Amino acid sequence: MSLFDCKILDLPKISDPRGNLTFIENKSQIPFDIRRIYYLYDVPGGSERGGHAHKELSQLIIAISGSFDVVLNDGDNQKRFHLNRSYEGLYVCPMIWRELDNFSSGSVCLVLASNFYDEADYFRNYDEFISGRGGK
Ligand code: TYD
Repeated sequence: MSLFDCKILDLPKISDPRGNLTFIENKSQIPFDIRRIYYLYDVPGGSERGGHAHKELSQLIIAISGSFDVVLNDGDNQKRFHLNRSYEGLYVCPMIWRELDNFSSGSVCLVLASNFYDEADYFRNYDEFISGRGGK
């Protein structure tokens, strides 16, 4: 799996003058079963999150409110995604180093994950991540 497997997915959007609605159903909109949801909020300006990779976890990252950037790196290539739409999700496959920054004031980052929290699934050291990918 590489950076080229990671992409912005368009989620269904029910437009309505009373307010828009987006939904996500297991496997219909995203390529994995959802086992966990978490969200980042009250992120102070200038903060950075992430700074790790997952061995087996797949994720969908959504800017539910406001905006932020996600920088993805597979050891060979790097790409910065600017997320600012509630109806778009960034699919991140396993073995991708990610960093989140440039959070706007009041932004909320929703993450759908394919498995429960497991610290053993993390690479928190970049060099170990590169070694885990088989080196450069
Ligand atoms: P971490 O994944 O490093 O956060 P981020 O990638 O957003 O910067 O997690 C931060 C802390 O929260 C860490 O101590 C582990 C804990 N945590 C859980 O207990 N459960 C979870 O589902 C997540 C995502 C993190």
